Amino acid sequence: MNRNGRQQYKHRIFVRRLCTLDYLDKNKSTLYRQLYAKILACGPITVADYMKEVLTHPTAGYYTTKDILGQKGDFTTSPEISQLFGEIIAIWIINEWRKISKESIQLVELGPGRGTLMNDILRVFKKLNLSNKISVHLVEISPVLSAIQAKKLCAESNDNNSDSFKDEENAFYRRGITKDGVKAYWYYSVYDVPRKFSIFVAHEFFDALPIHKFQKTDKGWREVLIDIIQDTKEERFQYVLSRMPTPACKVYLSPREKRDHVEISPQCSVMMDHLSQFLYECGGFALVIDYGHEREKTDTFRAFCQHKLHDPLLKPGTADLTADVDFLSMKEVAEKDDRLITFGPVTQRTFLQNTGIDLRLKIILQNATDTQKQHIQSGYHMITDKDKMGDCFKVLSLFPFILKDHLKKWPVAGFEDETEAK
Ligand SMILES: C[S@@+](CC[C@H](N)C(=O)[O-])C[C@H]1O[C@@H](n2cnc3c(N)ncnc32)[C@H](O)[C@@H]1O
Repeated sequence: MNRNGRQQYKHRIFVRRLCTLDYLDKNKSTLYRQLYAKILACGPITVADYMKEVLTHPTAGYYTTKDILGQKGDFTTSPEISQLFGEIIAIWIINEWRKISKESIQLVELGPGRGTLMNDILRVFKKLNLSNKISVHLVEISPVLSAIQAKKLCAESNDNNSDSFKDEENAFYRRGITKDGVKAYWYYSVYDVPRKFSIFVAHEFFDALPIHKFQKTDKGWREVLIDIIQDTKEERFQYVLSRMPTPACKVYLSPREKRDHVEISPQCSVMMDHLSQFLYECGGFALVIDYGHEREKTDTFRAFCQHKLHDPLLKPGTADLTADVDFLSMKEVAEKDDRLITFGPVTQRTFLQNTGIDLRLKIILQNATDTQKQHIQSGYHMITDKDKMGDCFKVLSLFPFILKDHLKKWPVAGFEDETEAK
């Protein structure tokens, strides 16, 4: 068969298989069908492409279409488990802020979920009469979750679609006012946050950003891609290796790499770069909390559905997709050109204990009923115990390099030597 003939043949097969989408219509989700058509049309897709589509597709994505957190959802997070978590973070923020400034601040949260962490932080600010010193800025890609956050945090809120809300300088898509009179704004992207002195908090945000996966083989590095299995009756997605090194292999892998399987999130690096430049130019600091490693882990890509591990390629859009964050890469980006200095990562347990969670626990137990005591204590253990969330979650803080000497004199709380925490 000549080249033309081969192309026509391929085209006929492609059309025939696209027609099978009619069959898929009845049995598979919209997201599955879209991914299927994309792979049929363009060939295997990267894990990063798959993750991006599955999590944040505007009309069918996992985050964009439903409330996924809590007991009835697919996973639960530290702020959802215990109010102690948000309260300790609030105290940490206030302590570090007051050491360097008395000016008003923008409190920015990346990926606020149900708004529980921000709600707990705002309660502490109110208690310490600091509500008039802050505005709240939430970076949230999901319209569904942003509505839930607004309901939790605000006495009134509105989409930014009426003329009275149009503001030349700000790109928020929703705004509101909290019960305590704090102004709150929602953005789709961190690039839209107004460039002012800001304190950023990101809890379980970076692990949701797309990753590329690479495998070392006898022939060199290959990228892990996602294709369609065709040799069984039921068609579904499967991992395959690229035949040749992909552009991502060439651009993202270091020649010094020692592991044989590597996950890299370019989006995480790009976002960290933006954050670093922002803090360098506008002032402020950031706290990142996530499960992660310092470049020693390999295959961490996984899915959670109804609190259980799940095959990431099965029923896309019905389970959370996640991968451990590479904290070393974050630090390298932040410290480039002496823009920022970083502290950590330390374990969540170390951070919370160094910042006084045990004392706070004692205080809130004093006024609690027996049932409440049980609930509070079990939450405390869940977020601090080594075999629960205490060790696998890590905390990293980022400050402008210019504060280096100041922070030597007044060290950042929570990041003392790990061995000091019991
Ligand atoms: C795993 S949830 C964590 C929620 C919350 N921080 C908590 O700990 O309970 C991830 C959050 O990040 C949001 N998100 C994911 N990808 C995003 C992106 N690219 N831009 C903005 N928000 C995103 C999700 O909608 C969700 O609110």
